[in-house]
Amino acid sequence: MKKDIDNIISTTVNKMVELDNKKILEVGCGSGFITEMLISDNNTVLAIDNDEESLKKVPSSISDLSNVQIEQLAFDEVSDTFDLIVFSLSLHHIEDPLATLNKAKKLLNDGGHLLIIEPDISIVDVDLRDITNVVDCFDKSEKGRLIKSKESIEFLNNKYNLKSIKIRAKWITDDLDELVSVFYEEDYNIDKQTGTDSVIKLLNINDYNDEIVLHDNLTLYLV
Ligand SMILES: C[S@@+](CC[C@H](N)C(=O)[O-])C[C@H]1O[C@@H](n2cnc3c(N)ncnc32)[C@H](O)[C@@H]1O
Repeated sequence: MKKDIDNIISTTVNKMVELDNKKILEVGCGSGFITEMLISDNNTVLAIDNDEESLKKVPSSISDLSNVQIEQLAFDEVSDTFDLIVFSLSLHHIEDPLATLNKAKKLLNDGGHLLIIEPDISIVDVDLRDITNVVDCFDKSEKGRLIKSKESIEFLNNKYNLKSIKIRAKWITDDLDELVSVFYEEDYNIDKQTGTDSVIKLLNINDYNDEIVLHDNLTLYLV
């Protein structure tokens, strides 16, 4: 499965913020999809996630790098300071997004930045082939959490000058099972078959070998 096939996420990150010569914290790195885009020869990246299983999926091409440190840690436990703190599709998974953003702001060195990457909920109901709508087949609480994180970001926007860019990245696969496995986690309150059936209906899939192209509508915020 190819995510962000046109590299639009990494291009936009690089356009928004300088990554070289920075001490970077990535919060909620999961299997390292965004981590890879943050690494340069002249920076250090501490990528944390509180979920052990997700961290096991970080490829060694990332975890073996000498300037990258992957740690099982919740954001609450972080006390060090950084030049750049990145929430990579993770803010809406953290219980109190506003308190989290306020704490992150305090952990910034002088001149430091927060970069928040979140799904863009303003278009998800319009575009059924949006990743967030696929996630919704398994996790009905996702959109509610996204609204809460967006409200927290807006609150921050009233205090600081915040820059935002909307992008549409593309995912592509020809394997429905692979697509479903990206989203399915045992602790979702829905069984895998029900979720898969909903995805088939949502995407109007007739042939399992068809190429599936999905949109990943995201907003990147820089504080
Ligand atoms: C949707 S995943 C995003 C993973 C990855 N960044 C990506 O873009 O594919 C959100 C991640 O945030 C992690 N997470 C949730 N709460 C967290 C916390 N308090 N501290 C650190 N990580 C957390 C979850 O375990 C999960 O791996």
